[in-house]
Amino acid sequence: MIDKYNRNIDYMRMSITDLCNLRCKYCMPEGMRVQKLPMAEILTFEELIEVAKAAVECGITKFKITGGEPLARKGCPGFIKMLKEISGVQQVTMTTNGVALEENLPMLVDAGLDAINISLDTLKADVFSEITGRNCQEEVIRGIETAIESGIKVKLNTVLQRGVNDGEWNDIILFANKHNIDVRFIEIMPIGYGRGMEVVSNDFLRRELQKKYPDLKDDMSIHGNGPARYVKIPGSDCSIGFISAIHGKFCGDCNRIRLTATGKLKPCLCYGDTVDVKKIVRDNCGTDEISSYKRQKRLVGVIQEAILSKPKEHCFEKITDITEMKKMVEIGG
Ligand code: 5AD
Ligand code: SF4
Repeated sequence: MIDKYNRNIDYMRMSITDLCNLRCKYCMPEGMRVQKLPMAEILTFEELIEVAKAAVECGITKFKITGGEPLARKGCPGFIKMLKEISGVQQVTMTTNGVALEENLPMLVDAGLDAINISLDTLKADVFSEITGRNCQEEVIRGIETAIESGIKVKLNTVLQRGVNDGEWNDIILFANKHNIDVRFIEIMPIGYGRGMEVVSNDFLRRELQKKYPDLKDDMSIHGNGPARYVKIPGSDCSIGFISAIHGKFCGDCNRIRLTATGKLKPCLCYGDTVDVKKIVRDNCGTDEISSYKRQKRLVGVIQEAILSKPKEHCFEKITDITEMKKMVEIGG
């Protein structure tokens, strides 16, 4: 569906849990007062499927399953399978920290998952523990390698933090190159614990890359649904992406809305405004045809409302104007 600023909104990021098995400093740091949401607050898979069907009627064709950590919710692969079976759904992808990927892969392949984005901030086990508060670097690497072997398309996501892992960008690029996959460097966004953290700017990184690889070329081919700008090292098959919310605003091309695990539609990452869908999926829960038809109609209505209320752009560059006070883990990135 086309929004007020002539953007085609065809992509939904769907968070299925606020839980995570890691404690990344910029997202859900150790000691954060996590209020574990009661299960009743979280949409059931059946409710999520109802929302997805209504979203498809509004022109959403691609879904990204996020969390927290989506694999922390039991039944995630089965849910992906249900989502893939909805007529009109063209693509279902997932973003994961990779820790529980290896054991879930056979089920994800069976579900027909189209692509996986895996977080990889470091290749060093001790730095991994420092960033994530957990000791499971090896599981992540195995998860990445198993995912690649499975044939599902894999991309890496890397967030650089000054003085922590900012010296590792080239090692991560070499790792991606070795495995023939793309890597994207994501600037820390001023949401949740990212607020106030020093950003390693992608402009800086791009210049460093150019120094190291003087024949670096812009890569204009399409790499997915995201806002990354890509470059390529000649002779290499993989691309290096930059997601620069602050230093390279991409709002003009925004194609997405977000659904939080508690059933709130978020028109923009930067603002706290939401449209409640839980109320509607839970109102009049009759399973007869008329009730579900009415529910579906109302769901389509609120999704359209959310799309039409998408603001022109974010204001990450002016931190005092940001109205989103939720943590990244509650939103799904
Ligand atoms: N800024 C940028 N990226 C973040 N992520 C989590 N929190 C932030 C933040 N404040 C990243 C994770 C993961 C992706 C889904 O979002 O590292 O790769
Ligand atoms: Fe978990 Fe991802 Fe947040 Fe890290 S960034 S704590 S892996 S949800």
